[in-house]
Amino acid sequence: GVDSLQRITPSILKQHNKKDDAWSAFYGKVYNITPYIPFHPGGEKELMRVAGRDGTKLFATTHGWVNADFMLDACLVGFLVGESSS
Ligand code: HEM
Repeated sequence: GVDSLQRITPSILKQHNKKDDAWSAFYGKVYNITPYIPFHPGGEKELMRVAGRDGTKLFATTHGWVNADFMLDACLVGFLVGESSS
């Protein structure tokens, strides 16, 4: 439930930038995208560009019409917050 979600700073997010441990933020929400990597229609290489960082801009530029919030609901880890808010 929502109570178990974490507040994640950019530096914490940055630690999850590996293929077997990839997190990314879209529109303020942080997702564990690791299980989705093999299923991305745009390929693994493109998706890994946003691993460990805020992917909102790149996502919006490539396919803003895709409902990532719905697709990745089960992969939600928490919310992106400012560096000093942890
Ligand atoms: C295609 C989902 C992140 C690049 C797609 C499609 C989906 C999707 C559903 C098919 C769209 C369609 O055919 O209309 C996602 C999700 C993402 C994500 C859920 C976040 C977790 C990204 C990022 C990039 C990217 C960050 C670029 C760096 C592409 C490209 C295609 C594509 C280039 C087109 C592939 C093709 O049609 O040949 N993605 N995507 N995606 N995605 Fe993503």
